[in-house]
Amino acid sequence: MKTAIIGTGYVGLTTGVALAYLGHEVTCLDLDAAKVENLKKGISPIYEPHLSELMKLASAKLKFTLDADEALRNAEVVFIAVGTPSLPDGNPNLTYLKSAAESIGERINAPYVVIVNKSTVPIGSGNWVESLVRDSYRAKNPAKNSNFVVASNPEFLREGSALSDMLYADRVVVGADDQRALDVLRKLYQPLIEQTFEAPAFLPRPEGFRAVHFLTSDLQSAELIKYAANAFLALKISFINEISELSEKVGADIQHVSRGIGLDSRIGNRFLQAGIGWGGSCFGKDTAALISTGKEYGLSMPITKAARDVNARQRARMVEILMGELKILKGRKIGILGLSFKPFTDDLRDSPALDIAQRLLERGAKVVGFDPISMDRAKREWTHIPVEFAASADAVFSEADAVLLVTDWPDFKNLPFEKCAEQMKHKLILDGRGQLEPGRLQAAGIRHIALGRSTR
Ligand code: UGA
Repeated sequence: MKTAIIGTGYVGLTTGVALAYLGHEVTCLDLDAAKVENLKKGISPIYEPHLSELMKLASAKLKFTLDADEALRNAEVVFIAVGTPSLPDGNPNLTYLKSAAESIGERINAPYVVIVNKSTVPIGSGNWVESLVRDSYRAKNPAKNSNFVVASNPEFLREGSALSDMLYADRVVVGADDQRALDVLRKLYQPLIEQTFEAPAFLPRPEGFRAVHFLTSDLQSAELIKYAANAFLALKISFINEISELSEKVGADIQHVSRGIGLDSRIGNRFLQAGIGWGGSCFGKDTAALISTGKEYGLSMPITKAARDVNARQRARMVEILMGELKILKGRKIGILGLSFKPFTDDLRDSPALDIAQRLLERGAKVVGFDPISMDRAKREWTHIPVEFAASADAVFSEADAVLLVTDWPDFKNLPFEKCAEQMKHKLILDGRGQLEPGRLQAAGIRHIALGRSTR
C-alpha cells in the first residue's frame, strides 16, 4: 500500500521502517534537511537498537523526502507522526499537527485516503484534524468532493525496544467512525497481525508468538486508550514506589514485595520495578495532558495527580537520603552512573539524572556523570549546568564522596567494585534502581543504600 509518514521522530521513523519492512511503499516526510539527508544515507538520527539494520533491509521500499508533494501524491494511507510537546499549561502544542493536516488537505488525490493520527493528541483531535483537512482540500479543489477519513492508531512503543514492540506488539488499536477506514488499516497491518512476515535475524519472533490482537473502536476511544495506557503504567510505577518508601520504614525489601504481588496474574509483574521513578518524554507529558483534559470537563483526576506527585518525590528523596548520610553536600564530589532516562536509549528528556544533578549542584556539590550511550548528547544539551563527565564508569568513583546509580544499564551491575571502592573518599553507593547485588558491595566494603530496602 502506498503510505506516507509525516514526521521522522521516534514514532514516525520506527513506524515507517517497520511498514516498509512489511512490504508497503513508504515515503517519510520531514522538514529538517540535514536529517533527511542523513536518512537517505541510512544514518538514523536516534539511537534505537536494530533500527539502522532494519532500515537497510527495508531500503527498497523506503524513501525519505523534504517534498510534501512527492510524499502525499497518490498516498492511500497518511500517518501524522509529528511532535506534540507540552506547553507550560500541560496541554500539548498542536502547531505541527495543524500544519500537517493542512498540508495533507492541499495535496491528497487518491480515490480514498485514510489519514492516521499516530501522534499522541488530545481527545477530540481526530475531529479537528478532519475539519482542517476538509477546509484546505476545499480551498484547493473547490469543484471536487474529498474522500478521506481520519483514524486514530496510537502507538505503544518503548524507546530501546521500539522495533520488537512494533513487530511483536501486544495489540494494534485502530479507531475510526467509518468501517472502510478500519478495513484499510487492517489490510495495512495484516502481515503483522497474522505474523506472516519473515522475522529479521536480529529480531527473532518470540517463541509461540503467532498473532497480534487487532482492536477496533470509535475515534475517541482509541485516542483515550493511549492516555489511559500511559497513565496506568505511570501509576503502576508510582504505586510500587509509594510502597517502597513504606518498605524502607517497616524493614521490608521492595524486591520481594514487588515479586510477591506481581505473581498475581491479575496484577502482573511488569512495570513494578521500584526506584527513582519514570522519566522520558511520554509519561510526564501524557499524565499532564490527561489532567488538563479532565479539567476541561470539570474532573480532578486525583489518581493521575498522585502518580505524578509520588514520581517527583522519588527524585527529591535521593538527594534527601544523600544529605542524611553525608550531612554536608557543599564541596562533595558525587558521581552519577547513567544519564539517559532509561537504558538502551540516548534520550535525555525528563531524565531523572538531570533533575538530581541540578539539585546537587544547587547545594554546592560537584557532579561527575557517566553514561555508555548518551554522554555525547548530554555534553551538547546540558551546557546550562556545570556537570563534569567521566571517561568510564570506573572513573566516576575516583575521589567520590558517594556514587548514585540512576539509570539501570546492565553493565553497571558488574563493575569491579573492589577497585572502585579503593578510589572513593567515602565508600557509599545509593542505588536508585535496586539493581546492585548487596553482597558484592558489602564484600567490597561499600555502604549500599537502595531505595525500598531498609538498611540494616
Ligand atoms: C512509554 C510506554 O511504555 C510505551 O508503551 C509508550 O508507547 C511510550 O511511553 C510513548 O507514549 O511513546 P517509554 O517512555 O519509551 O515508553 O519507556 P518505558 O519503558 O515505559 O519507561 C518509562 C520510564 O519508567 C523510564 O524512566 C523507566 O526507567 C521507568 N520505569 C519503567 C520504572 O521506573 N519502573 C518500571 O517498572 C518500568
